[in-house]
Amino acid sequence: MSSTTMRSHQCGELRAEHIGQQVTLTGWVATRREHGEKLAFVDLRDHTGVTQCVVDNTVDVRAEWVLRVTGVVAARPAESVNDRLPTGAVELQDCAVEVLNVAEPPPFPVSERADQVAENTRLQHRYIDIRRERMQRNLRLRASVNSAIRRAMEEQGFVEVETPMLVPSTPEGAREFIVPSRQQPGSFYALPQSPQLFKQLLMVAGIDRYYQIARCLRDEDLRADRQYEFMQLDAEMSFVTQDDVHTAIGAAVLAAARAAGQDPGEIVKITWQEAMNRFGVDKPDMRFGSELVELTDVFAATEFKAFAGAPSIKGINAVGQADQYGRNKLDQMTDRAKQMGAKGLVWLRVAGDGTFESPVAKFISDDERAQLTARLAAEPGDLLLIVADQWATTCEVLGQLRNDIARPPVHEGPYRYLWVIDFPMFVGVDEATGRPKPGHHPFTQPHPDDVHLLETDPMNVRSQAYDLVLNGWELGSGSIRIHQPELQARIFALLGIGEEEAQRKFGFFLNPFKFGAPPHGGFAFGIDRLVAILAGEENIREVIAFPKTQSGADLMTNAPTPVAAKQLDELGIRVLPPKA
Ligand code: AMO
Ligand code: AMP
Repeated sequence: MSSTTMRSHQCGELRAEHIGQQVTLTGWVATRREHGEKLAFVDLRDHTGVTQCVVDNTVDVRAEWVLRVTGVVAARPAESVNDRLPTGAVELQDCAVEVLNVAEPPPFPVSERADQVAENTRLQHRYIDIRRERMQRNLRLRASVNSAIRRAMEEQGFVEVETPMLVPSTPEGAREFIVPSRQQPGSFYALPQSPQLFKQLLMVAGIDRYYQIARCLRDEDLRADRQYEFMQLDAEMSFVTQDDVHTAIGAAVLAAARAAGQDPGEIVKITWQEAMNRFGVDKPDMRFGSELVELTDVFAATEFKAFAGAPSIKGINAVGQADQYGRNKLDQMTDRAKQMGAKGLVWLRVAGDGTFESPVAKFISDDERAQLTARLAAEPGDLLLIVADQWATTCEVLGQLRNDIARPPVHEGPYRYLWVIDFPMFVGVDEATGRPKPGHHPFTQPHPDDVHLLETDPMNVRSQAYDLVLNGWELGSGSIRIHQPELQARIFALLGIGEEEAQRKFGFFLNPFKFGAPPHGGFAFGIDRLVAILAGEENIREVIAFPKTQSGADLMTNAPTPVAAKQLDELGIRVLPPKA
């Protein structure tokens, strides 16, 4: 029902079937055009569309004035029927126009032409920007996605529980926003990076299946897929294995995709090891080929110095790209490979007769060429790229080059959802402490087959952590958590966190686990990222009503702003002069 006491219909609603009815519309003046000497056309707009109103040309209305128009729906004369407009067969005649409010000329036109307007201008006047079709569509899509997620979670027995916004510091890894306490000057709350610790305590509390569409805050450097404030579908489940979590979250994501009119297919599952081996990255974009191909054995007895004895050699085939990459571009690509840690990059253009064109072609034997050609399915016109190095470097460098060469924009179909599972428990070593760094957070359960390696070979321990990936973007991540205090103590010991420090930092979280913590696990995915991709947008700002700019400013409200000295006094805070 769209009628109110002030209107009978909305501006996008009228069709031939309404002809003859008297209706009342409300909305904004999109355009006003003179029509002969006596009449004018006013296109009245609301979020549903526009209706052409024929008014007396003495009626003085201008762009964005707010009107209430009562008139009779009539068929347009044949020559002025507009097939591109859903209301294009009709117009309102005999109109009585009531001006509900006047408006200054808008800072930019409320039309899709505003896409050309500087984004800062759009953000400064976001209330005008949101009148536009693109923003209306995105925000409404976002609402449908949220609603589909809620429905899917509730159908599966998840209970929505709200967790606090003023919390202690949590170890999620990003920088926190802090809030000073007035009652305890010198003490601070943190704004939650996620509801992580609370949702785990809800499992100890017997909630069994929790979810929340949760606001999270992180003081990170902003970019296309990152804002300070963002929304997660956050969930946690008791008495489950990771497959149960994947099934539950998968149902919500797929429901959201379908609500956006997408046919999402199914969610593929691959291990982190396989992702790295085939795509060279932990968030593979499966929409295109050029997968990494294992070549170490091909060069086992090579004469080519750069490859001889290398622990890992892999290559990719940039199919049909030989012509696209001249010497300059290949030099740039080699530099990029080196910046990422490679010692070099071998490129080979496949010539018409199947031979290789490359400065290093002379070092590659006929037998090696034959094997390379077969493994990489090389055809004339292809460009082959090969890297020899430690396994991790080989994968990473070729994975990035593969994306550079062939990756379509994130929002272009087809949509390929996948779970990446069995992430390593630790990633690299903390330079300061010499301790392994946790890959997810320190409450992640190790893979049951690898627990015995924790102390002896930590870097080869897999975890029960998993990510959900869509078209090369990380949508979300989660894990099965540690629920046994002894295992948690072992992990903390490995990370160099002593009992006293663990108590001080996470005592409030760890002690409850002594009171019967069930096995549990969960997940969170970024709703802004999902909606952006579903809306066909490359930046999550386009699906957030009031986002911050790259420098963290809200151009509409001017936040952040200084506050009054009195307010600071009350909080016991003194602000230092800005650093020179
Ligand atoms: P994680 O830190 O991986 O996991 O976050 C989950 C998802 O949240 C989204 N996200 C963001 N979106 C926009 N702007 C940001 N600054 C931003 N940061 C994260 C991403 C990301 O994949 N508590 C764990 C989950 C768990 O273990 O259950 C967590 O928050 O889409
Ligand atoms: P060099 O012998 O260092 O002059 O290298 C000869 C060619 O092999 C250059 O094109 C390098 O970019 C390339 N190259 C050197 N080391 C590697 C490596 N580890 N992996 C791939 N290509 C390499």
